[in-house]
Amino acid sequence: MLARIETGVGPPAVSEAIGFLRERLSRAPRAVLVLGSGLGEVAAEIEDPVRVPYEEIPGFPAAVVPGHRGELVAGIWEGVELVALSGRFHLYEGWDPVAVALPLRALAALGADRLILTNAAGGVRRDMGAGELMLIVDHLNFMFRNPLVGAAAPGEARFPDMSSPYDAEFRRIALETAAKLGITLTRGVYAGVLGPSYETVAEIRMLAAMGADAVGMSTVPEVIVARALGLRVLGISCITNPAAGLGVGRLDHEEVLEVAGAAGYRLRRLLAGLVPKLVAANLPTEAVE
Ligand code: HPA
Repeated sequence: MLARIETGVGPPAVSEAIGFLRERLSRAPRAVLVLGSGLGEVAAEIEDPVRVPYEEIPGFPAAVVPGHRGELVAGIWEGVELVALSGRFHLYEGWDPVAVALPLRALAALGADRLILTNAAGGVRRDMGAGELMLIVDHLNFMFRNPLVGAAAPGEARFPDMSSPYDAEFRRIALETAAKLGITLTRGVYAGVLGPSYETVAEIRMLAAMGADAVGMSTVPEVIVARALGLRVLGISCITNPAAGLGVGRLDHEEVLEVAGAAGYRLRRLLAGLVPKLVAANLPTEAVE
């Protein structure tokens, strides 16, 4: 007999997480903000915060890598009711892609309909130097994993359209806000790879030839599930290093965190200007097919 792939985190885990969060968070979030490597300071600026360590939330994977704090912070930032995910789950930690998707499924059920993602990435295009901020316009899934594999979740698209996963209106607002603030924001395509080893020089050459401008080990599973849920998505990469073979020396996680921290100030300013506009944007809700 053929067995269906057992995902491990089926609807019961999601409904437990929803029930738990509904009790802990007094208000419904408008948006989810995912804070990537070394970009966690925003969580400290949230007013009236409710902090929930991931390990307390039913079904949430708990372990995180250095630079990822592993807590959910709900509250008000720049006047916007949101939930910041400080620390995310990576496939390279061994999590099932369905576990990576669980926080978004739970927070969407609580009312969030916008997702703002940040991450650290290596620059593949020659002009993507360390410290550059890149607006993600599209992605390449080189993880070869998909969080939607398994039984279709209720209320989600079975075959979500991925022809424009990063919301065009959000991108326009992001570029306009960056220009107003005098912050350079460069458009690019993000290639998501499984990791955790960094890429070889040949792999970076391949990714460049295939249209990648930056490479990282996150974001793609979250964006896929967000689109299945009908959430509007904005993604910004902080380029922390030239990818393998494009810079001098070896790649090092500590260095990635250092650069992400230094560029974090600019990214914070950009997000502070941007998040209220994204939430105010009076956009028609998209139907989930
Ligand atoms: N490759 C993959 N992921 C990364 C990199 C990189 O060079 N830098 C930061 N995250």
